Amino acid sequence: MNHRSKEKTLVLIKPDGVQRALIGEIIRRYERTGLKLVGLKFVIPTVEMVEKHYLIDDGWLESVGKKTKASYEKKGQKAPFDDPVEGGKWVLEKLKKFLSAGPVVAMVWQGNEAVGIVRKITGGTEPLSSDVGTIRGDLTLDSYPLADTDNRAVRNLIHASGNSEEAEKEIKIWFKENEIIKYRLVQETILYDVNLDSIKE
Ligand code: CDP
Ligand code: MG
Repeated sequence: MNHRSKEKTLVLIKPDGVQRALIGEIIRRYERTGLKLVGLKFVIPTVEMVEKHYLIDDGWLESVGKKTKASYEKKGQKAPFDDPVEGGKWVLEKLKKFLSAGPVVAMVWQGNEAVGIVRKITGGTEPLSSDVGTIRGDLTLDSYPLADTDNRAVRNLIHASGNSEEAEKEIKIWFKENEIIKYRLVQETILYDVNLDSIKE
């Protein structure tokens, strides 16, 4: 089994993040946690790539539909669809249009609990209710009702893998094996080494 410090996750800065000139700010937030950047590219995704990316997880269509419904219900409102899977298919169509609309930054971050750390910093899906201090909570303002009324995807700056199995499959869509860089960072000593006997002179 891989050491925990080797967990990887996929992050995409979606077209809104690039257009809002937030690439540097977003990378800074992940970088300062101690996570290591092991893959980085700038691409305009095709519709096929976006579809493959979201359909890689069997349960995604249903879960995205359910999550959206729950958010409407919490506000005392009704979602614009009944069946979660149908809702998920509708969201996928909108995402295909959104993510292929312009360049995105694709990244692989590695470190202890990389998936969970990145999700925490990224914040909840709907910027209206994402926590303060998170990327989605601090840097943008979209909501389900606004996006749904205009029949477009929620613009929330980031995609981040939901769990490590999803991450492994997603990374393969965006990166070839030789595009994941193996290297050491000086700071890994203080983050992970057991015996800190190389600090004192
Ligand atoms: O991105 P995250 O994992 O937080 O959420 P998701 O449930 O996997 O949904 C993927 C993406 O679909 C979101 O980040 C939104 O951009 C988009 N979405 C949407 O446009 N409309 C919805 N009702 C739900 C999600
Ligand atoms: Mg997701």
